[in-house]
Amino acid sequence: MSQAGTSGGGFQLTEALRDSPFMRACRREQVPYTPVWLMRQAGRYMKEYRDVRARYSFLEMCKQPEVASEVTVYAAHRLGVDAAIIFADILLIIEPMGLDLEFAKGEGPVIHNPVRTAADVDRVREVEDVSALDYVYEAVRITRRELRHDIPLIGFCGAPFTLASYICEGGGSKNYLHTKRLMYTDPGAWHALMSKIARALSQYLNAQVEAGAQAVQIFDSWVGALSPDDYREYVLPHTREVIEGVTPGVPVIHFGTNTATLLELMKEAGGDVIGLDWRVRLDEAWARLGDVAVQGNFDSVALFTTPEVVRRRAKDVLDRAANRPGHIFNLGHGILPETPVENVVALVEAVHELSAR
Ligand code: CP3
Repeated sequence: MSQAGTSGGGFQLTEALRDSPFMRACRREQVPYTPVWLMRQAGRYMKEYRDVRARYSFLEMCKQPEVASEVTVYAAHRLGVDAAIIFADILLIIEPMGLDLEFAKGEGPVIHNPVRTAADVDRVREVEDVSALDYVYEAVRITRRELRHDIPLIGFCGAPFTLASYICEGGGSKNYLHTKRLMYTDPGAWHALMSKIARALSQYLNAQVEAGAQAVQIFDSWVGALSPDDYREYVLPHTREVIEGVTPGVPVIHFGTNTATLLELMKEAGGDVIGLDWRVRLDEAWARLGDVAVQGNFDSVALFTTPEVVRRRAKDVLDRAANRPGHIFNLGHGILPETPVENVVALVEAVHELSAR
């Protein structure tokens, strides 16, 4: 058995990490200021990222632990954020499942052998052990060593629905036609596919934890395409299985976009922290969710303005959270490629300053 693939027992927290504002917020404890980190904080908007990226393809970057670690650590230290997220991608896990993944120039991800029928689902490989992704765990180990000792490192995976949508569509999608057709016409095959994905994911997250991640985030980026009833029937049990399988004590952030009608159900599926996109008012969403921490929800596009506008809009998010324990500041979705770096730095500074208790 792969050492990295075993679950449990590996979760270690130093005092500095345990008492960090990010980890305290995950547990809904008091904090000296609101912790902030940003989805896609290591990305193309940063010149230093583009310089590295000029030498490697995106997948090569992910598969070379030193390189993945370098961009992870650089972004976190440069921005002064309160958590780092390991540089990787939600789609890496589908390679050992037998799917042929490519990041085509200018097109985003392409899967050359998408799943459309029950027979295709049968051909999807069960990931018996997750050692195929050893390069991710090695990147986590190096990053944990290089990162400031009081900054938590977040591991992550895609949620079963979002991964299934890529597997069925063969890439990004607008209407999720192939995904929903399989779901609606052959629920047995759909659930079989989702179960194969879910089983791989808990192992994958726990291997990241064992390698040195302090928390994990589950990205259900495209789940907002579903009605609440379809979410409950076709998705919720599988997401719940992933979350319940995470090593006890490790905070789980459960994130999605376009989820205004799904928030209560996402909470039912699980997570210590629910990620909110910018389409909802943070205070109203939090009131609906109740006893759980929340993460969000600054509009990424507002970073294309001025430091003054950024500060005013950050204050609005913070005012809605009102210094209640259990708020992690983040964007409503990832940073966009052309974002001016100085506004990102201004955002992090504004959050720290405006939220100081
Ligand atoms: O947040 C971070 O800094 C960590 C790294 C990270 C990446 N992808 C790096 C990346 C994380 C957490 C992800 C998650 C991810 N990947 C999601 C969920 C988050 C979200 O945005 O909803 C999704 C849907 C993917 C799939 C994916 N990967 C797409 C659609 C693309 C193409 C996007 C584009 O604009 O080209 C990627 C590629 C990708 N993943 C890049 C980065 C930095 C850009 C690659 C490049 O340098 O060309």
